[in-house]
Amino acid sequence: MTTQPPKTLYLGSAYYPEHWPESRWAEDIRLMQEAGLNVARLGEFAWSTMEPADGQFHLDWLARAIDQLAQAGIATVLGTPTAAPPAWLTQAHPDTLAVDEYGRRAQHGNRCHFCVNSATYQAYCRRIVAALGERFGQHPHVIGWQLDNEYNRVCYCEECRSQFQTFLQARYGSLDELNARWSTAYWSQTYTDWRQIPAPIGGHNPGLMLDWKRFITESYRQYQQVQIDALRPQLREGVWITHNFMGWFDGFDHYALNVDLDMASWDYYVGTGHHDHLEKGAIHDLTRGFKLASGKPKNFWVMETQPGSVNWRPVNNMLNQGEARVMAWQAIGHGADGVLYWQWRSALNGQEQYHGSLVDQSGQPRPFYDEVKLLGADVLAVGELLAQTRPEARVAFLNDYPSRWSVQWQKHHADFDWVKHFTHYYRPFARANLGVDVVHADTPLDNYRIVVMPALIMLNEQRSRRLAEFVRRGGKLIITARSAMKDEDNSLLPMRQPGTLADLAGVEVEEYYALDEPVPIKGNWFEGQSRVWAERLKVRDPNHVAVIAKYGPSNGWLDGQPAITVRGTSSGLCYYCGAYLDDVAQQAFLHRVIETVGLRSPITVPEGVEVCTRVTLDGKTRYFILINHTRTGQIIDLPWPAAEQPGGRVLTGRIELPAYEVAVVTKA
Ligand code: GLA
Repeated sequence: MTTQPPKTLYLGSAYYPEHWPESRWAEDIRLMQEAGLNVARLGEFAWSTMEPADGQFHLDWLARAIDQLAQAGIATVLGTPTAAPPAWLTQAHPDTLAVDEYGRRAQHGNRCHFCVNSATYQAYCRRIVAALGERFGQHPHVIGWQLDNEYNRVCYCEECRSQFQTFLQARYGSLDELNARWSTAYWSQTYTDWRQIPAPIGGHNPGLMLDWKRFITESYRQYQQVQIDALRPQLREGVWITHNFMGWFDGFDHYALNVDLDMASWDYYVGTGHHDHLEKGAIHDLTRGFKLASGKPKNFWVMETQPGSVNWRPVNNMLNQGEARVMAWQAIGHGADGVLYWQWRSALNGQEQYHGSLVDQSGQPRPFYDEVKLLGADVLAVGELLAQTRPEARVAFLNDYPSRWSVQWQKHHADFDWVKHFTHYYRPFARANLGVDVVHADTPLDNYRIVVMPALIMLNEQRSRRLAEFVRRGGKLIITARSAMKDEDNSLLPMRQPGTLADLAGVEVEEYYALDEPVPIKGNWFEGQSRVWAERLKVRDPNHVAVIAKYGPSNGWLDGQPAITVRGTSSGLCYYCGAYLDDVAQQAFLHRVIETVGLRSPITVPEGVEVCTRVTLDGKTRYFILINHTRTGQIIDLPWPAAEQPGGRVLTGRIELPAYEVAVVTKA
């Protein structure tokens, strides 16, 4: 019990021992062990069991659970329970309950119903987190901590509004400055007293809306910091702190919150339907990029994923047999070092009775449990080999929450969805099996050969300079529609798109069109349509700009006008794509760009098979993870003799990867 858990990949489940009589725990733990689980996440909603009355801490049960798990070789990730305050707390302090846009206070009995800025609430959080840290911070089998659970609630109480006003005062210094930057003369919004400034309900001034998001970000950041401060000094060396984010959820700026965390993690649910590997990889890459942005690259965890099905969609279909296993492998391929199912067993009552789990209401393993067993065997086989490796990428996708918010608030076309547009660019790179880093727009770009900036609408001097430098050094930059149009106040730049990148691109946007019907596109090496959106480009630098595609006959304004261009500077290239191409044309366009750069999948594989690369930290050994995401066997031609891992059996020529199967190989 005193030995350290091994360095390996982690496979586990959320486990709530407080839902069950202690006499049951041994059987649960036996089943976990039999499935090959080596981690359990405990505690994240257990406040009323941990502190049943104000200041009375009952943590012995938790200590016994952690110890019993440890005896079975199962490490613990401890959740702080602050997403679910106990009833005695909200009864004594109703002002800790969040208030919605319409002034309604949240009711007790669901979760995340607290006001993030309540000093009273934060004091209670500090105390319970400190108590947990004191008791378990040095425990050799508590390997990490998750703060709270899926931050998401926005509170509109008077206290939050007043703190928002204080936040603005600190940001702008004077009302004159704020009024100028938000253009408040528009519709007579001019503020003469900080206390006049509202919290935005629905649509509002774009500058105010952006600052409200910044304020929410700052609110969660300092709420999180309260917990970090209570915990960190008590933790033994090497124990990490994370939070389980929600993929594309954009309630706050995730980069800011991750600066203070040791590791990023996210909760991956398909919900209805099935796993689409060509776009889901983007979310793994996004999550991995959270720590990249803070200059401390680190792999991430999938802190929750669905054991077959969920309970919160209109149709909660089951994943196909084998599908969850390849989903877990895709996560690992993209840099996950831990994958945990939610949850072990549904409580007999409570809001999530029908959610998928590993063990059913009777306490017996569900059919899905056997799939987890296969993963358990996988992790046992290659976990230690892969634990000290990370993905590599020569392609960067730039991400920026303010840009995303700005576009989403004023979509201009109902079907212009920022995430869909982003993944529309991501898919051809995923299909080509090229590693991608989704990075914050201000991240250094030295490691990359291709940079894509999908609808990066906010430009600043530094970004502009860095991108120009990237192209000057030989990089290939793809600027897409709806880029480089605004400043950091969400104000329009007083210049045409792409703002200060116009010299680099050699073009400017004369007009943008929301399309009621598709417009034909004729390209030099593809034909197709632009849907939803089209920008009419004007070539400014005819000597260095080639027009790759033009619009065909449509509304007159676009007829025959440049849609996609490229400008060459020494060995670098800057593409401007003003069209929103159909899928086939998009694939053809980007396939050619990728070919031009000379980036290639390390192993050529059929459609539906993914190749992920994880490289050892010294850069010497590359592990190629081949994942068959399809329901039929696929033939792969190995380009070189490969050593199957673990074991090193040499494979040559053609191999068959059965349906939903995975192989890990190195070069022999
Ligand atoms: C979220 C929560 C979990 C659980 C699952 C169900 O991700 O974090 O507690 O409710 O959803 O899918």
